[in-house]
Order: sequence, then structure tokens, then C-alpha cells
Amino acid sequence: MNNKALIDKLNTEKHLSKDEWMTLFDTWDEDDRKYAASIAKTIAQRIYGNKIYIRGIVEFSNICRNDCYYCGIRRSNTDVSRYCLTEDEILGCCDEGYGLGFRTFVLQSGEHILKPEQVADVVKKIKKAHPDCAVTLSLGEEEYETYKLWREAGADRYLLRHETANEAHYKKLHPENMSWQHRMDCLKNLKKLGYQTGAGIMVGSPYQTNECLADDMRFFESFKPEMIGIGPFLPHKDTPFKDEPKGSYELTLFLLSLCRILLPSVLLPATTALGTIHLKGREEGVLAGANVIMPNLSPTAVRKKYMLYDNKICTGDESAQCRGCLERRMKAIGYEIEISRGDHNDKICDIR
Ligand code: 5AD
Ligand code: FES
Repeated sequence: MNNKALIDKLNTEKHLSKDEWMTLFDTWDEDDRKYAASIAKTIAQRIYGNKIYIRGIVEFSNICRNDCYYCGIRRSNTDVSRYCLTEDEILGCCDEGYGLGFRTFVLQSGEHILKPEQVADVVKKIKKAHPDCAVTLSLGEEEYETYKLWREAGADRYLLRHETANEAHYKKLHPENMSWQHRMDCLKNLKKLGYQTGAGIMVGSPYQTNECLADDMRFFESFKPEMIGIGPFLPHKDTPFKDEPKGSYELTLFLLSLCRILLPSVLLPATTALGTIHLKGREEGVLAGANVIMPNLSPTAVRKKYMLYDNKICTGDESAQCRGCLERRMKAIGYEIEISRGDHNDKICDIR
């Protein structure tokens, strides 16, 4: 079967075997990528029209207990000036975001910063101030009881990239005290608790093979995350991976399209890393099937301190600037920013 036939098969059957995935990743070319993008774009348009959902990210702390080899805010990086916003500052970012039309707030930080009760408290306060908004948490691995507490406080969604569905690969990206199995268990717990759950990977992370990517696609097929975060790996100067090459822009776009074809209604952002690797990354991500953009709502004063990788975009901009910029960028390619919570809805997924 040639690659276009494999992409067609994925579109009709929503499944490829591991061998078929590997063939696709071993042999794809630009033509295949464009073919997948045109199908993915049509699917996204059928389900979401020309609307792009926006999420405001509040990076409220860069303190982290973990030491992932790829990440700029890893514990061992002593060159990072560590911060944690107060509850009032976090609420202030959300208020500002609300005024700019955001109806989802993503609270993101390094792992294990606040006591679980403190997080629950912030979630409750945001939901009370803005009952028409969704709250997404992106706070790393926690125990079931903690995720439960946060869910009961009103959190709607949770982002936890699995990073790689291949356990041996996971071990090459993380220190020994981190466990692939634990991360997978966390994802299962999140789903069980009724969160709209996001998984995801970095494309071109060190030691990633086409077999890893095949495993990732098969994981997406079986786990069916409501959201998928995919961006290129980008090196950070103060990490063990500082000399590793960045991921491929084109492969990232191709994977976005394949995810859209596999899971038609998935919430799929054109990520900040995609916008960093290429000036038009977010636009091309949307044209490849993405339907979400997640700009930063953090105070400008702390943005440069949340550098997961070098040269991250929008670290000098005000929230309002980013909002205007994205509106213009989306308009220029025929899309509009939608002001609503933008929940995952898999009923629409069955329309073919
Ligand atoms: N390049 C690209 N993405 C990164 N992330 C962390 N470090 C990097 C990097 N150097 C991604 C990881 C993590 C998410 C918050 O950011 O996938 O889950
Ligand atoms: Fe931040 Fe363009 S989105 S400046």
C-alpha cells in the first residue's frame, strides 16, 4: 500500500497496525504530508468550522521537583530565577483574560508547588468569579486523591503529556526516579475522574524513533485523549540535551494532521513550540488540522522565567498584544477566534 492509501485507510478505519504506522513514518514525503493536511483540514472544518478556540495559560510558578533532561526549568538548573504568583495575581490574570475574551484558563506550573488544598482553593475562586469558564490544570503527576480533590473543586480538564508511549524511550528522557508506568496511571486516573484529558509528545525528542511514534499513535488510538499537545522538541541551553538537534517542523505538522484524522473531534492546539520553530507555525498548524491556540496570560514580568526551551515566543508581550496578534493571524488565513469554553464534544465526531 502506498502512503496515500495508508492515510486513506486511517481516515476510513481510524486504525493502522504498528507496521503500517512504521512504514508511514519511514517513508513519508512532502506530498504525503500535504495530502494528510488537506484531509485533516477538511475534517476540522466540518467539525469546528473556521472557529479557533483560545485558552489563556497562566504559568503561575516555575518551581519544579523534577529533573527531566529536556526541560529548561528542571530542578538542577540553578540559573533559573524561581517564582510563584500569589492567589490574587493568578486571579488577576484570569480577570484580565476574561476581559480579552478567554473562557478557558489553564493553570500551569512545575510539579508539586502548592499544597493540593491551595490549588483547589484557586480553582474554586476562578469558577466563582467566572462561572461560564472552564479551568484546565497542567500541574504534572499527582495521586488519585489529589486529582479528585481538584476535580471536585471544579477543574474541568487536565493536560499531562505522556511524552512517549515507549517505556525504554521514556527512561532516556527522564531521571530514574520518574516512572513511565506512573505517568500512564495518572492519565488513566484523570479520565476516570471525568476530566477532559490531554496527552501528547515532543516531536524529535532525543532518542525518538519511528517505532516510538508508532507507539504514540497507537496509544492515542486506544486512550482517546480529548486533547493532544504536540510540538517540536527544542533544546534549552542549560539542560543535558542542550546540543541535541531540534525536532522537525514538517514532521510535527504531519503528526498534527494524522492525529486529526485518527480522532476527528480531538482538541488540538497549534502549540507555542510550533510557533517558535517557525514564524508561521501556528498558522500552518491550523491549516494542518489544529483548532486551538493557547497564548500566555502570565504577567510580562515573569514570562522570561518560564523558559522550557530557548527562544520561546511571546515572552515580551502583554496578554492584550497576543490576543490582538492571534486575531490578525487567524483572520489572515480565513479563521476566527471563538469566545466560548470550547469543550470536547465527541458526538460530533461520528458525522462523517
Ligand atoms: N522542547 C519542547 N517542548 C518541551 N517541553 C518541555 N521541555 C521542552 C523542550 N525543551 C514540553 C513537554 C512538557 C510540556 C509542558 O512542555 O512536552 O510536557
Ligand atoms: Fe503573542 Fe503574537 S501571539 S505576540
